Amino acid sequence: MSAHEIAQPMTARKAGALTGRAEVPGDKSISHRALIFGAMAVGETRITGLLEGQDVLDTARAMQAFGAVVTQHGAGSWSVNGVGVGGFTEPADVIDCGNSGTGVRLIMGTMATTPMTATFTGDASLRKRPMGRVTEPLSLFGTMAFGRQGGRLPMTVVGAANPVPVRYALPVASAQVKSAVLLAGLNAPGQTVVIEREPTRDHSERMLLGFGAALTVEKTSAGNVITLTGQPELRPQNVAVPRDPSSAAFPVCAALIVENSDVFVPGVSQNLTRNGLYLTLVEMGADIEFQNPRTEGGEPVADLRVRFSGNMQGIEVPPERAPSMIDEYPILSVVAACATGRTVMRGVKELRVKESDRIDAMARGLEACGVRIEEDEDTLIVHGMGAGQVPGGATCAVHLDHRIAMSFLVLGMAAKKPVSIDDASPIVTSFPIFEGLMKGLGASLSRDNH
Ligand code: S3P
Repeated sequence: MSAHEIAQPMTARKAGALTGRAEVPGDKSISHRALIFGAMAVGETRITGLLEGQDVLDTARAMQAFGAVVTQHGAGSWSVNGVGVGGFTEPADVIDCGNSGTGVRLIMGTMATTPMTATFTGDASLRKRPMGRVTEPLSLFGTMAFGRQGGRLPMTVVGAANPVPVRYALPVASAQVKSAVLLAGLNAPGQTVVIEREPTRDHSERMLLGFGAALTVEKTSAGNVITLTGQPELRPQNVAVPRDPSSAAFPVCAALIVENSDVFVPGVSQNLTRNGLYLTLVEMGADIEFQNPRTEGGEPVADLRVRFSGNMQGIEVPPERAPSMIDEYPILSVVAACATGRTVMRGVKELRVKESDRIDAMARGLEACGVRIEEDEDTLIVHGMGAGQVPGGATCAVHLDHRIAMSFLVLGMAAKKPVSIDDASPIVTSFPIFEGLMKGLGASLSRDNH
């Protein structure tokens, strides 16, 4: 199913200050994993705070198709009756993961070491994205995959009947690939080892430990060496999903660039594998107070008080920080446009294979709004214009990409002239309450019916 069949243009205009409390939804990465690990456990996993975005709903449906029983009890409150490691049954139909790269890649890993055949597809964005990065390590377990040219969906995956454990060094910094290999390793005998040179988000490792798997992470000169012992019995858990720092980025950055704003964003993850944007904003001179640090749902969180910051300076973002803020470069480039001086983002070529080519999408939209950009394959440089100085007055193409859509709407809240996007419908994949939440803070967003 696609959430994006009918384009919904939307416009953001400068209104007054943004003020109030912004309670963003549950973390998307953790929500996918709670459903998948719940499906791999024997018995009932309870989840609260689940993100009810389209991406996660598609994963819930996929888990049902593989034999788990997934039930919604109330807003954000779900249960999964799992089938156990190796207990998946063959789905009767094609698995449609919609817009979600995380969904499809993690689910491919999960079924890859069980003898069954499953065919995966997704929307026009997902069907352009490379799956070879996952099917290549999965082939080491004995899994076969048959897709379109360039390893694109639709793709049929034949799970290994006699999987062998795998030792795999990630060629790209990708938590999706790491997680797919670990999930496949769950149903292989012996020890599966994944080596990552740069640390990426560690939610799978945390959750595997929480569900009772034997897993170790050793920090070596080659990076993190993650060793998982296969064929554990996973025990069902109560999972409290913390709020999503990647979604929090939108109200936080909007407050920083809209004059006189003062916004409180509770419970934002401070997980070191996810907090790169917040470090970067502080280095740029953002006024963010990190209050009441604590642990929620096994993740370090803090409440953020964010005030308009009219004197932010462009910086060089350290390339090694990229994995911890990979989804936040689009909104950072909006903040950079409202800062003074150049913001240089290097080592970001992974952005080209996200829901859209995010370097290209941001560069074209920012240019249309009057911002000077430089780019190459692996770099985006934004020439800041200073607070309140971005001209705006353009319609930006979002290419079925939720984060591009929200980034340009945030720009429109601070630009001199309104900024429109051609399609707001992808926003439901990760942040279904975005429009209402931003309007509640005082933003002016309107749906354009033409
Ligand atoms: C995710 C990992 C990242 C990120 C995506 C979510 C995850 O992708 O961009 O939105 O939940 O593992 P990569 O692993 O491909 O970098």
